[in-house]
Amino acid sequence: SSEILVAPSILAADFARLGEEIAAIDAAGADWIHCDVMDGHFVPNISFGADVIKAIRPLTKKVFDVHLMIAPIDPYLEAFAKAGADVITVHAEAGPHLDRSLQAIRALGKKAGVGLCPATPESAIQYVLDRIDLVLVMTVNPGFGGQSFLESQIEKIRRIRTMIGDRPIRLEVDGGITRDNAAAVAGAGADTLVAGSAVFRGRDGTEYAANIAAIRLA
Ligand code: DX5
Ligand code: ZN
Repeated sequence: SSEILVAPSILAADFARLGEEIAAIDAAGADWIHCDVMDGHFVPNISFGADVIKAIRPLTKKVFDVHLMIAPIDPYLEAFAKAGADVITVHAEAGPHLDRSLQAIRALGKKAGVGLCPATPESAIQYVLDRIDLVLVMTVNPGFGGQSFLESQIEKIRRIRTMIGDRPIRLEVDGGITRDNAAAVAGAGADTLVAGSAVFRGRDGTEYAANIAAIRLA
């Protein structure tokens, strides 16, 4: 798909005012709400889980794009589906049975995504292309917001765009995305741009619409 979607990551929101932050990015033109779930095991940080997603789900009608950075994966899929996730992305590196996890997500009636860490080659998705609705290319090492974009991933984005061909699969980039590199990732073939710190900069809400628009139009 060629329409660019912007998915603010609520990892960069003010958690003490999470409800207001969701309303603010909804009003500011966010296309999807990106939820980063971290377990302190697959990644070296802990964020929030299904209960938090369930609590904020009624606050917006936007697509909930749930990025699971957890291992194991399968025991938790149903909880995230029930919490109101629309897209559930799991990491290719998080377990030995990616194909099974992707089948489980679709069996729960949700869109299935595969995430790739920076060192993982694009070949990891070769045999699951017909089971996925989204590929998420990590453009930082997962675990923390506010890191610098890894230029090495531009070539991977380009190669995945070719692999996707005319399949209805979105190509999402996540990590260090700003108004300054958005054009480069979109030019390489990304159509869904996650941004945390670049959207929530300032945190007072008045700049969110301008931040989202700047990334979308870049
Ligand atoms: C990193 C997360 C990203 C991150 C994006 O593990 O998956 O979604 O929070 O934040 P920024 O845009 O600040 O890199
Ligand atoms: Zn993410």
